[in-house]
Amino acid sequence: MTDQSTIWTEDNLMSLQSHILAEERHHPSATGDFSWILSGISLATKSIASKVRRARIEDVIGESAGGPFGENGGINVQGEQQLKLDVIANEVIKACLGTRANIAALVSEEEQEPTILRSRESGGRYAVFFDPLDGSSNLDVSVGVGTIFGIVRLPDTRGISGTEAILHERATMAAAGYVLYGSSTVMMLTTGNGVDMFVLDQSIGAYVLVKRKIKMPATKKIYSINEAYANRFPAGIRTWLDWAHNNDYSSRYIGSMVADVHRTLLKGGVFVYPETNDRPEGKLRLLYEAMPMAMLVEQAGGTASTGRGRILDLRPEALHQRVPVILGSADEVSHVQRYIDA
Ligand code: AHG
Ligand code: MN
Ligand code: MN
Repeated sequence: MTDQSTIWTEDNLMSLQSHILAEERHHPSATGDFSWILSGISLATKSIASKVRRARIEDVIGESAGGPFGENGGINVQGEQQLKLDVIANEVIKACLGTRANIAALVSEEEQEPTILRSRESGGRYAVFFDPLDGSSNLDVSVGVGTIFGIVRLPDTRGISGTEAILHERATMAAAGYVLYGSSTVMMLTTGNGVDMFVLDQSIGAYVLVKRKIKMPATKKIYSINEAYANRFPAGIRTWLDWAHNNDYSSRYIGSMVADVHRTLLKGGVFVYPETNDRPEGKLRLLYEAMPMAMLVEQAGGTASTGRGRILDLRPEALHQRVPVILGSADEVSHVQRYIDA
């Protein structure tokens, strides 16, 4: 017999906002925190999507010169050249989240220090980590870029402020997601209850739910790694690549983490950004790249490792800490791990 209530739910148009409200209704103790924070992220990413689509027309492609938005002549805290849209996207997110009464701090790839909004005593219960524009060097050539975000519940400790509170304990991620500004604008979101996919319907200006509880394939012969750096990889990664070359693997690498992880989540495979001789800690940032992606991948049934352990077991030590990343289909991550451990 068909379950009518299932049909009703699946057939009806569900916006991101109503989805979050519906999820919160399942938890009697829910405070509405997520709908409040996610409405800010929704607004910010709709605005960034529109700016990304118009970047060439509005001439915001290219490097930032610093000035009213940029620091240090357009070089960010990573020592990397900021692009105009990196700076604009960062400002948009801050403008949309700054007034959310339950956010204590914002941590952005583009800023050395966290933006402290309010203390625990004044209601600040969460920190939001974000990479405002991921893969921004792909923007000039109209390839998919994205925004990555993680929401962390802060420890219930009084008297700690700023960076110390943010890095206080092993991270307890409450929610994570990304928005891919690709051929369509897609949001993938988890609040710890599976991964749901939303697409921005431009005609009504709303994210609508298109797929619930996404599960990634346990195995798929696709690897995603910048193979040009092979001579700089650890021996285990090189021998794993040799094994993959002899076992019918295919390669896909876009160079925007959001786009590469999105493909990996939907089609399976493994995404690897290991440590290299010149970057002994890897390139990707723990708080606002590796951790949110790790939560999404685990919630979709995959694995996310540094090669030495689970990414989500790390206790962050610095805001802009880098970490090696191996994530994807459980079987594919196991293959990589086997060669690392050999
Ligand atoms: P960002 O644009 O936020 O600095 O991130 C770029 C990152 C990530 O998106 C991608 O996976 C990686 O850099 C690509 O690096 P390589 O060019 O070294 O392969
Ligand atoms: Mn990035
Ligand atoms: Mn970025």
